[in-house]
Amino acid sequence: MVTLLHIDSSVLPGEASSSRSVAAAFREAWEEQHPEGTVIHRDLAADPVPHITAAAWSAGYTTPSERTPEQSAAFAVREELIEELERADAILIGAPMHNFSVPSTFKTWLDNVLLLGRTAGESPSAQGTPTVVVASRGGSYAPGTPREGFDFVQNYLEAVLGRTLGLDLDFIVPELTMAPRNPAMSELIPLYEASRERAFEDAIKKAKELAERLAA
Ligand SMILES: Cc1cc2nc3c(=O)[nH]c(=O)nc-3n(C[C@H](O)[C@H](O)[C@H](O)COP(=O)(O)O)c2cc1C
Repeated sequence: MVTLLHIDSSVLPGEASSSRSVAAAFREAWEEQHPEGTVIHRDLAADPVPHITAAAWSAGYTTPSERTPEQSAAFAVREELIEELERADAILIGAPMHNFSVPSTFKTWLDNVLLLGRTAGESPSAQGTPTVVVASRGGSYAPGTPREGFDFVQNYLEAVLGRTLGLDLDFIVPELTMAPRNPAMSELIPLYEASRERAFEDAIKKAKELAERLAA
């Protein structure tokens, strides 16, 4: 039985959110392929995980029997999040762009799960887990656009999820999502619509491909 870890971090609900909608399409196609599977869903906007504290951080580098009660209590949350990551056969992440980077709720999740000697280091415990990131954004940062160098989502996630946690990363990028809301972007609406359609197609295709890959 396969397990999908599904993380959302958009502040917008349901269909108002591009990342939630595209991730939902992925998940639906995934569940069709894996009716018996398990999905662990973390909605970091609705239920944020706690910010890392000195006790939670230092507990990660202290053997369990030597932890103070404060360290043990603080580490319990990290342990739960890390176990979810390690249990997952595949990971789906909605990571909208907030001020050129990821939402702080998602950054906090990363601060909790990244632990040298376990999830990171010489042999990261979730190494190789296929991971699809829906990186929605209001504008476009594609090559040749005026703000090409301002995308600190994809390169950051490649560094932290890819090169540090060792996950096998794939991105879906619904872009220009602000076009229907921002009159100054009205000419970009057709490009937004095309990007949205591509994102849904990609989500369904990638979910099916991944299901086949895990079944092989
Ligand atoms: C706090 C906040 C900051 C944002 N900053 C940016 C930004 O720097 N660049 C951008 O292109 N869009 C930005 N946006 C727009 C979102 O990226 C856009 O609405 C995207 O669709 C969000 O994904 P979602 O629809 O899943 O919430 C921001 C939105 C919010 C709520």
